[in-house]
Amino acid sequence: MKSIQVSKLSSGFENVSVQNVDAPNPASGQVKVRMLLSPVNPSDINFIRGDYRLALQAMIWNVGRDTPSFSPTQLLPYPALPYALGGEGVGIVESCGKGWLAKRLLGKRVAVAGGPPNGTWQEYCVVDAKKALPLPPTLSDEQAAMFIVNPLSAYAMLSKVLKVKSGEWLIQSAAGSALGQIVIRLSKVFGFRTINLVRSTASAETVKMAGGDVVVDTTTEDICGIVARATKGQGVRYAMDCVGGSLATEMLRCLSIDGHMVVYGTLANEPISFSSRDLMMPVTRMSGFYTPNWLSQQSPLTILTILHRLKKLQSAGIFDASVERIFPVEDVVDALNLATTPGRGGKVLLRMSER
Ligand SMILES: NC(=O)c1ccc[n+]([C@@H]2O[C@H](COP(=O)([O-])OP(=O)(O)OC[C@H]3O[C@@H](n4cnc5c(N)ncnc54)[C@H](OP(=O)(O)O)[C@@H]3O)[C@@H](O)[C@H]2O)c1
Repeated sequence: MKSIQVSKLSSGFENVSVQNVDAPNPASGQVKVRMLLSPVNPSDINFIRGDYRLALQAMIWNVGRDTPSFSPTQLLPYPALPYALGGEGVGIVESCGKGWLAKRLLGKRVAVAGGPPNGTWQEYCVVDAKKALPLPPTLSDEQAAMFIVNPLSAYAMLSKVLKVKSGEWLIQSAAGSALGQIVIRLSKVFGFRTINLVRSTASAETVKMAGGDVVVDTTTEDICGIVARATKGQGVRYAMDCVGGSLATEMLRCLSIDGHMVVYGTLANEPISFSSRDLMMPVTRMSGFYTPNWLSQQSPLTILTILHRLKKLQSAGIFDASVERIFPVEDVVDALNLATTPGRGGKVLLRMSER
């Protein structure tokens, strides 16, 4: 089967290629999914460049270890190269191992999330049956392919991490991203207002159309001045940053007393620098969010409840993301180049097999 793999970590895409490998077989409790579509997410680029590995090496639980692990339990080591890329997607369950749950999914269309070493950018993917999510036929394959990572992360950060309250303000960076637009749509459900940071007039238009209350083009406008005016000098209660660098520093200064900023991405690839007093004086806090490690701390009941809620919200179109282009598997490098081009209109997807 075709499998998109990375053979060596590097800043470019020269080590990403389509390989022919044996198709995997499902063990007991697992399903074998013929993948249809997968998006190119920023986290996939991290797995090509090795950003996660670099970050993990510095974690206290990896001190003195040759292979860093994603969590202190050491159950999820950083995969050895070469590995198959792809963090999520949609496909059809073609076969299964033993077990009632796995058998029940036979022939169904499911959304799956995973990642290297056995990523979703492969013709076939084997996953635990309990991690394959059947989706209603009303949802297009394109939207089904993007159903897990961004919707789950946005919903978890808002409802469980920030615990947003109705009537409050939230500021977010990269507001034109798929996740940023989900936050805007969820703001109408939760009843909070949004200040949306973008870096172009095209993104500003997209965000206004999505329903953003205030939009700031950071290339030409003064963030703190606009936040002060919008919030009548009080600042925002919540902030969500996925860019980092000086933009995140400025967002931190926009927080009100007792405000909370969650950092969940590193798009600028630059560290955030600030004085301790920026947190001390307004008694604010900053926390990190990484979906797999956050999920590992939640009870099965919490996860089931969230997934149930996500399905309900999906039927209202809350998580729809626009698609810029779908590439055949062979054109993966073109897909990666487009996905990393500033100003692209929507998500780039890979077609792993025909329906
Ligand atoms: N921590 C987690 O568990 C988790 C889970 C899901 C997503 N995320 C993160 O969420 C973020 C958004 O993901 P997505 O899939 O929604 O992204 P996306 O739809 O692929 O869009 C990326 C967006 O980021 C903007 N951008 C890229 N580099 C930027 C920079 N240096 N400064 C400002 N804006 C920049 C782009 O703006 P232009 O349109 O102007 O190019 C684009 O709007 C990513 O950082 C991703 O890693 C994290």
